[in-house]
Amino acid sequence: MGWRKFNEKGVCTICGTCEGLVNVATPEQYVYVKACEAHKREVFRNCRADYALAHVDEIMRTAQVPANYCTKTVRDWRSSNALREKVITYTATWPYADDLVLYGPNNTGKTHLAAALIRTGIVRHYQLRHLLFASTWQVAARLGDFKERRAATDELLVPKLLVLDDISVPTNPLALEALYGVLDWRISNRADGYRTIVTMDQDPRDAEPSLGRRIVARLLRMRRMPLVTLTAEKRQSVAESVG
Ligand SMILES: Nc1ncnc2c1ncn2[C@@H]1O[C@H](COP(=O)(O)OP(=O)(O)O)[C@@H](O)[C@H]1O
Ligand SMILES: [Mg+2]
Ligand SMILES: [Zn+2]
Repeated sequence: MGWRKFNEKGVCTICGTCEGLVNVATPEQYVYVKACEAHKREVFRNCRADYALAHVDEIMRTAQVPANYCTKTVRDWRSSNALREKVITYTATWPYADDLVLYGPNNTGKTHLAAALIRTGIVRHYQLRHLLFASTWQVAARLGDFKERRAATDELLVPKLLVLDDISVPTNPLALEALYGVLDWRISNRADGYRTIVTMDQDPRDAEPSLGRRIVARLLRMRRMPLVTLTAEKRQSVAESVG
């Protein structure tokens, strides 16, 4: 495909016309590619997809995915076929997918899948700089800190795709209030492309006493995906790890 080449000849890299050309900034921003009006979007998309594929690991790190989850993929996430089908259907709707709550016992691959979904988001050219993986306990510590609260809140409102891993109730009431504010704001602004993925170890319907009614009410507006439909092999290992 011609669009890969930086083209100095002054023709559209897709159709070869020399009329009405514009410079399309590639995601690196310091390389421009020529395109006609009709193809400028396509060139941009192609460049971006190319960039995402080449830089996916770096983008994962920038999104603050923990190092040991940076290599996780949907492909190496084991589950029943039915559940895999659900996940694939879900990712196929990027970037318009629903908000999502992943829940299941420990070691069912919630964090793995959440990280893999960020990877999918990158590869499917979700706004590359607008992804964030946040461990809820770390976030909560900052949300409860008087000096850091404002900055921490703002950081959670920027990403178009936010993972809140292991959501649980912050003991600090300031943090709880701020966490609720973040969830509420993000869910209310879905129409502008803000998507949130939450992981937790129980069905949100059972979580009210621990998470509080308002947070649970927000979670119940999100699509719920229980990760308990496991392969026999996995069920075995979960059973072992639980006791
Ligand atoms: N269903 C699964 N498929 C593949 N790997 C899994 C699965 N469940 C757990 N793992 C692996 O086990 C480890 C712990 O999983 P993790 O995602 O942290 O579980 P959780 O967040 O549900 O407690 C990770 O290394 C993960 O890759
Ligand atoms: Mg986890
Ligand atoms: Zn063209």
